[in-house]
Amino acid sequence: DRGSAPDFTAKEIDEQPAATRRLLDGLLGRLHGGRLLGDLGLGTPERVRLVACGTSGHAAEVTARVLAVEGGIPARVVTASEPDLAVPEPGTLTVALSQSGETADVLAALDRWGDPVLAITNAPRSSLARRADAVLGLGCGPEVGVAATKTFTSQVVAGVAVALAVGARAGAVSASRLAQLESVLDGLPARLATTASLAAAPAAALADELADEPGVVFVSRGAGVPYAREGALKLEELTYRRVQAVPAGELKHGPIALLGPGTPVVVVNAEPRGRLAVGVSEITARGARAVLVGASEDATLPISSPAEEPPWGPLEAAVALQLFAREMTVRLGHEVDRPRNLAKSVTVE
Ligand code: M6R
Repeated sequence: DRGSAPDFTAKEIDEQPAATRRLLDGLLGRLHGGRLLGDLGLGTPERVRLVACGTSGHAAEVTARVLAVEGGIPARVVTASEPDLAVPEPGTLTVALSQSGETADVLAALDRWGDPVLAITNAPRSSLARRADAVLGLGCGPEVGVAATKTFTSQVVAGVAVALAVGARAGAVSASRLAQLESVLDGLPARLATTASLAAAPAAALADELADEPGVVFVSRGAGVPYAREGALKLEELTYRRVQAVPAGELKHGPIALLGPGTPVVVVNAEPRGRLAVGVSEITARGARAVLVGASEDATLPISSPAEEPPWGPLEAAVALQLFAREMTVRLGHEVDRPRNLAKSVTVE
């Protein structure tokens, strides 16, 4: 039941503060000493392999970064449909992220390795949950819109919690650092709600301005890159526009050739801002239009951010970019909840 919402996607975007609050209430307080891992029956891994597709792959990228930066644990993301390069390595924990738990590529990839598997999924009775040694449920409630929204923000929260628990268990994250990050996580649901209200009208206005644009480029740096990719995926799957996401430093190695007068380039603001500023000047020097997503005053899509960027980056930007993608879709007259050619669960390899 979508209640008074115009579509399920709008409803599910709105549900993110409540969904992340519920999840955090079950996770915060279990990170110190890595207790969460013990609760899941898992040992301390030497390295982590994350396997996922699509939007879940972007949550995996965020998780890998937090594992590396805070946990000092080698972590790599394997696109589930391309598992060949990931050879078995002792001491590896495989973390499979899938909202549906039925993605055939993820299930097939797991057959190749003998590692213990932790599933992060919104479907605790799915094939993935049955296959896994441990399950961390998202508890988001059903997600009907084909475009993943609330399951993405919850996957990031769950992945970050696992990464911090691994870091705490390995002694890489100090108790005081962990307490500081827990408090930033605790404030996340409120920031997602504030972002939704701050960004709603600007997202609609931007959709009006860009509705006729044939393509959009997304850039960011560092921890912002997975959110640039996620914003791009939302926009392309819903609007059928040509969209490309690249780390800002890669622009000059090819994609900058796409930029001409007025070409929209969505810049997901993230640390280090100095290095991102170089990318923005490269964009504006070509007469292209930089559309900033961030907490600064010149942002086109404003978001609410904590004082210091956390190691999981600007997760709040995901909400602003979801709103923008949905608004564009409505302008173009496309079906918001059921984009063409896509299924909610991709059960074929
Ligand atoms: O159920 P999963 O999380 O395993 O699904 C993976 C992808 O198919 C999925 O995230 C897809 O990219 C979404 N339509 C993105 O919005």
